Amino acid sequence: MGGHKKQRDGFTSKLGVVAAAAGSAIGLGNIYRFPCELGENGGAAFLLVYLGIVLLLGVPVMLSELVIGRRSQRNAVGAFKKLAPKSIWPFVGYMGVLCGFLIFAFYSTVAGWTLEYIVKAVTNSFQGKDLAAIEQDFSDFHNNGWRNVIWQGVFIFLTGFVVFRGVQNGIEKYSKVLMPMLLLILIILGVRSMLLPGAKEGLLFLFHPDFSKITGEVLISALGQVFFSLSVGMGALITYGSYIKKDDNLVTTSLSVTLSDTLVAVLAGIVIFPAAFSFGIQPSSGMGLVFNTLPMIFNQMTGGYFFCIIFFVLLAIAALTSTISLLEVAVAYLSEELHLKRQTATVLACIATMLLGTYSSLSLKQGSPFYIAGMSCFDLLDFVTSKVLLPLGGLFIVIFVGWKLGKTKFFDEITNEGTIKASSKKVLLFIIRFVAPLAIALIFVSGFIK
Ligand code: TRP
Repeated sequence: MGGHKKQRDGFTSKLGVVAAAAGSAIGLGNIYRFPCELGENGGAAFLLVYLGIVLLLGVPVMLSELVIGRRSQRNAVGAFKKLAPKSIWPFVGYMGVLCGFLIFAFYSTVAGWTLEYIVKAVTNSFQGKDLAAIEQDFSDFHNNGWRNVIWQGVFIFLTGFVVFRGVQNGIEKYSKVLMPMLLLILIILGVRSMLLPGAKEGLLFLFHPDFSKITGEVLISALGQVFFSLSVGMGALITYGSYIKKDDNLVTTSLSVTLSDTLVAVLAGIVIFPAAFSFGIQPSSGMGLVFNTLPMIFNQMTGGYFFCIIFFVLLAIAALTSTISLLEVAVAYLSEELHLKRQTATVLACIATMLLGTYSSLSLKQGSPFYIAGMSCFDLLDFVTSKVLLPLGGLFIVIFVGWKLGKTKFFDEITNEGTIKASSKKVLLFIIRFVAPLAIALIFVSGFIK
């Protein structure tokens, strides 16, 4: 394997690393999926569990992935081949490549909606409409399956276009300016939302926990959401980690990425729930929750027309920096391990995603035949990836770093061979060795016991 000495692509600056990893993390997972999960899993209790898992498990798994990536300088599969030659470990990498492909297939469905909503925003099609009309528009859009598929295709093409050109010129540039802008607009929307009549109930739903609501189901949903939102558990950050320079600080990188990702998720909650309660939208209404609540907020705002356009454009870009990282996992694998040209690998992966993605989009139509085991193809892909593959991937990744890679190499990597201090290194190792594997395994099991 390996042996090819060609210069590897890489991130050019420290800010670039954080921006690219945060770009991967911040996306529809924060602004669309997080409110849905929170609404369906009892509100504040879910948020509390979520935050606990971010700290206790999200950071260590993210750090472990970055360690594997930078140490090996390889893609998700090649990394395990290099660090554990002639072992079964590369299996974790293969699982990750598969998982990334499955996520991309259904993620691009929702990403496509953001493009449709940009058009709706520009053509001012929400103005003056009441909730019933906005909800009708949303369901009409789904029931016109092919329109979803076309937008999805456009989105996959855009992702392919960036990845085609390579990491350096592709990924960094977009994230640096646009993520802070997204944060700013969320703050403005959050303030507007909290000022709506009846907003208080939404805030209570979000911040006043009812502990009796915490069940195995809530725990596994929260774990899945944390991993999904932080982009961990399938090797995306192994791949990005392999592009990080040797003098970057992995611990502070993990912390800043986690912090910004979590901030955006909580802000999204502050935008959505007060407004949803104010307009009488059920918190557990699933797909429509975010896409119906937002236009309603813009309708109540001075300058709502412009805010609406800017918001959906930023949301689409946030989704794009996430899909780039998903596609990059497959492309890095195909080009480094199977020696395809980067461009060929990109085109092949995009075509495959488009095929499965079409099923995912069409499965949301009313009466669609694309149902498997009582779930739409879309829901099934979401379920399998976030509640099965990511937790298992995260579990194997921490076990690998804690027990196979071992203490010395782990310390070497997070202290940059002893040149920087990592005062929390012993605690981190302890969590990675004992706490994280146990906790992930327990939550995983509890999620499947009724
Ligand atoms: N984290 C992204 C989001 O929240 C989605 C994503 C990108 C992802 N890359 C990933 C999820 C890798 C899991 C694994 O929108």
